[in-house]
Amino acid sequence: MEARLRLRDVNLNFGGITVLDDVSFDVEANAIFGLVGPNGAGKTSLFNCISGHYKPSSGSIAIDENEVSGLAPSRLAAHGLARTFQHPALQLTATVLENVLLGAHTRLPGGPVSWSLRLPFTARSEHSLREEARALLERVGLGSAADVPADELSHGLHKGIELCRALLSKPKLLLLDEPAAGLSHGEVESFIATVKALRDEGDITVVIVEHHMGLISALTDRVVVLDHGRTLLEGTAAEAQTNARVIEAYLGQEDDDGAA
Ligand SMILES: Nc1ncnc2c1ncn2[C@@H]1O[C@H](COP(=O)(O)OP(=O)(O)O)[C@@H](O)[C@H]1O
Ligand SMILES: [Mg+2]
Repeated sequence: MEARLRLRDVNLNFGGITVLDDVSFDVEANAIFGLVGPNGAGKTSLFNCISGHYKPSSGSIAIDENEVSGLAPSRLAAHGLARTFQHPALQLTATVLENVLLGAHTRLPGGPVSWSLRLPFTARSEHSLREEARALLERVGLGSAADVPADELSHGLHKGIELCRALLSKPKLLLLDEPAAGLSHGEVESFIATVKALRDEGDITVVIVEHHMGLISALTDRVVVLDHGRTLLEGTAAEAQTNARVIEAYLGQEDDDGAA
């Protein structure tokens, strides 16, 4: 089996706190893979390790058999990685389209410097990227919002902007951190359809962190359940939802919330 993403014994410590404890799993090429677990389980921290925002304390992270652990985020784009954030960081006064184009610098011939300086030789690429960005926005239902400031859109729709921004880099490995948070029922349904179509059309592997179990069930081939930085279970979404230890971990979270 070809693993697009392979984690082996990934550990992450902050001071004396263990955030990730020997996390190991493979994500097959072209899979849609779920990463679930209660709040504080370490899901976002694991994404941060994969995307180079955190450096694991030990362990191996490989994309297509290339060791990438500890590489800077900018270097990971060259390995085909793109991600969205649990809390999108957008330029709120810039338009929706401009926010999507911020994802494009990795594909322009002159690289980030000439892009930010708007050197003339990038002009043609910039034009075609704008067209691609508009097409992506159209695809996620944000076509008519392309030219309005991002702060006029709801938090849920900011996730759509981030998705387009990530897709503009034509990733082969896409990490989505709680993409459905803040979306209406109808928006979740269209998000599911969009991700399914992306996978059916092209060479893309998707890892999704999400609490919305309907979405996880509808989209994922496999899931890993994390709890307190450890792997509780690897299996199908249906297995996760009926597993006694997983149910207990989520019930523990409700108790925590109740006490807070
Ligand atoms: N930069 C950091 N410094 C210290 N602790 C951190 C840092 N990032 C995450 N953590 C801790 O790691 C744990 C897991 O957090 P997180 O990965 O955000 O969980 P999840 O995304 O599953 O809700 C939490 O206890 C959090 O406080
Ligand atoms: Mg998180």
